Amino acid sequence: MSTKISKVALLGADGKLGPAIMHALVENGFNVTVLKRKSSKSPSSYPSQILVSDDFNVPELTEALKGIDAVVITVKGSQTDLQKRIAEAAVQAGVKRLIPADFGSCDSSTQFAQDTVPLFKHKANLRQYLTDLSTKNPSFGWTSIVCGHFFDWSLEFLHIYLPQRKAEILDDGAAKWSASSLGQIAEATARILLRPDVTKNRMLYIQSFLVSQSEVIAAYEKATGTKWEVAKFESEKYLEEEKSKAAEGDLEAVENLVWLVGTVDGNWEGKKDFAMEDLGLVEEDLERVVRKTVERLG
Ligand SMILES: NC(=O)c1ccc[n+]([C@@H]2O[C@H](COP(=O)([O-])OP(=O)(O)OC[C@H]3O[C@@H](n4cnc5c(N)ncnc54)[C@H](OP(=O)(O)O)[C@@H]3O)[C@@H](O)[C@H]2O)c1
Repeated sequence: MSTKISKVALLGADGKLGPAIMHALVENGFNVTVLKRKSSKSPSSYPSQILVSDDFNVPELTEALKGIDAVVITVKGSQTDLQKRIAEAAVQAGVKRLIPADFGSCDSSTQFAQDTVPLFKHKANLRQYLTDLSTKNPSFGWTSIVCGHFFDWSLEFLHIYLPQRKAEILDDGAAKWSASSLGQIAEATARILLRPDVTKNRMLYIQSFLVSQSEVIAAYEKATGTKWEVAKFESEKYLEEEKSKAAEGDLEAVENLVWLVGTVDGNWEGKKDFAMEDLGLVEEDLERVVRKTVERLG
């Protein structure tokens, strides 16, 4: 029997990724309700909005989710307990699909990612929880997205320093990695809900394009009309140095490790669940996305 999804609840509409997802859901004809914690300081309000207690308790959430077909979560991926409570309530309310806050820079199912950044163990743990929940409640399912680094959000996170026309690369900058624009990730999210049967209980890999750091810098040089200064790091040495800093609690080092893993081990094209065809998604043009990013960020 096919599953039709029309009413969608979104938690995290005011974050980095949330607004793009909100836009894609509305554009694709979904009826969207925003969930917000009562203590939220985000100024925006939405035509359909439900405020929930900050403890996200299951009975209250269950009431809030009655009549909803799917829940999309775009809070920080580290908020595992909150997401488990939402999943529990979703099952009780009869929600058919949950898309957790995965949207990974890295493939959190690999040992390398899990050994390098603890967050990825939490993401894998949440998927296992959702898998068990779906086994016990077959009308409930989950789908998560691995998109590679957000390409048009924080350029500093990608070690691209636009105002200074400078960039940092790993090794010779030739490793190929999958990257996605926020718009592409949002469209993928909507398509998952438009194709619920083919996407059920799967971790799907998507991209805007497969690129190398050298190709990205060449695109920025073309868009800015200048030669950029490039600094190189030897990846194995960098990995060990940033791991020791991260172990001391250095959060910037954790971000650097995410950058490294998604760059040296971030090619999704060979993955069994590479889902561009299943979702009917087309790749974007690297130079066009870079040009638009330069126009937007200056
Ligand atoms: N692939 C990549 O390069 C990349 C980069 C960054 C993030 N991500 C992924 O993208 C997803 C979103 O992460 P993010 O860092 O972008 O999140 P974020 O922007 O920090 O999320 C903020 C949103 O979450 C809500 N929120 C925060 N804490 C909450 C809480 N305790 N209870 C309820 N709502 C809460 C906020 O609402 P209020 O403050 O209004 O309550 C706001 O709408 C995650 O899955 C993350 O792993 C991927």
